[in-house]
Amino acid sequence: EDGCGMKMLRLPDGRFAGVGYKFELDTLINLTSLPLRDDDVLLCSYPKSGCHWLWQNIRFLLDDRVTLDAVDKETGMVEIHSREYFHGLPSPRILNIHERPEHMPADLMKGKAKIVFVYRNPKDVAVSFFHHFKGFSAYCLEGNFSNFLKRFVQGLVISGGIFDYLKEWETFFKKNPHIPRIILSYENFKMNPIPERRRLASYLCTQPSDLFLQEIKDATSLDVMRDLKGEVKNSAGQSVFYRKGKIGDWKNYFTV
Ligand code: A3P
Repeated sequence: EDGCGMKMLRLPDGRFAGVGYKFELDTLINLTSLPLRDDDVLLCSYPKSGCHWLWQNIRFLLDDRVTLDAVDKETGMVEIHSREYFHGLPSPRILNIHERPEHMPADLMKGKAKIVFVYRNPKDVAVSFFHHFKGFSAYCLEGNFSNFLKRFVQGLVISGGIFDYLKEWETFFKKNPHIPRIILSYENFKMNPIPERRRLASYLCTQPSDLFLQEIKDATSLDVMRDLKGEVKNSAGQSVFYRKGKIGDWKNYFTV
């Protein structure tokens, strides 16, 4: 708890974990020993960078079909499930994870799993995160965006500071060229929907037609995903995970 009224769990090693969802502390603390499989896809991102969206795109590409149901990235979200749960998931697993390289499963260094890394303009991430914490009353976030921005810049949020997060992953990728990765940005994925999906498909070794890519694009629009999920709502009845889905919403929140 701090001056902002905000509450989070703190792990023994200093990492923050959420209280809005039931975080699985045992999984988080012992993450480095989580066994990976050769065909795992690890979707790595700082929170609020579009991982629900990317997860669904990866799922449809790997399944080679679109399924309009409520299954989404929470199915593969490492932070909220037990090790036994992951053990029971069928292959190929799409595991979504917000941790830094030092806390990643050690199997990753053995060349197991493929990384899909997605990042987003930190200013839009800050705004999205603000709404996320406001949306879950358990975080008790008080104050306006300016108050929250100070916390965000200091890294006093889940996953710590975004600048360190991105820097550490960049260093990790440079040092470990043998680890398969594709780097995507939220903005590019939105502005170049078909070419970016084709690039992702080729990395995942699938060969979708242009028609199928268009079908995936339509099925992963914000409105379709929001309607299908019918998920967590804030106290005002708005969706927490599927909010605006825009590039540049930060301009409505940052002062000059
Ligand atoms: P905003 O709060 O700016 O709207 P994550 O999935 O990593 O938690 O990221 C959440 C952000 O991605 C939210 O941003 C959310 O609206 C946006 N998002 C979720 N689904 C999306 C989609 N299908 N298309 C575009 N943006 C999406």
